[in-house]
Amino acid sequence: MCRGASPNLIMKTSVAIYPGSFDPVTNGHLDLIERGEKMFDRLIVAVLKNVEKEPLFSVTERVEMLRLVTKRWDSVEVDVFEGLLVDYARKRGAAVILRGIRAVSDYEYELQMALMNRKLEPRLETVFMLPGESYSYLSAKLVREIAKLGGPLAGLVPPLVEQRIRSKVS
Ligand code: PNS
Repeated sequence: MCRGASPNLIMKTSVAIYPGSFDPVTNGHLDLIERGEKMFDRLIVAVLKNVEKEPLFSVTERVEMLRLVTKRWDSVEVDVFEGLLVDYARKRGAAVILRGIRAVSDYEYELQMALMNRKLEPRLETVFMLPGESYSYLSAKLVREIAKLGGPLAGLVPPLVEQRIRSKVS
């Protein structure tokens, strides 16, 4: 054995994907990105190019806002994906899917998705993280609803997103 080299030291580089709709990015998402950024070498925030009937923002707009609000973190990348998440993870060489769980009510859906993704790709692990408890009631769906009804959004989304929402719905 080489002197000074530890046989147990295995250097791993971890790439995680944080997938979602992000319509729009909220302070809860940002909180999770900040936590994930500390944990993984590279964090890819992946926006699903879905066919939702009435999105508030286009995928291009969502990506642009995400890039602006995550630009302080060098290891965070924002990308778009379509099709199966497991295929995208394979393509990007990611070993981890990161998801946030705010409350027990999220668990059932997240468990189902995580187990299905494991069935589709057993080498891919789903890691759940808890956002700060002050975001436990926050969702992009409620933000869209408040936005459409002209309610206050301060503290729920980054200021830049609040401005974009105001100019869109006014
Ligand atoms: O922010 P959301 O809408 O809760 O994110 C859901 C998302 C994008 C993670 C999920 O719908 C997804 O992974 N879609 C990609 C299609 C796919 O792989 N479906 C099978 C998942 S079990």
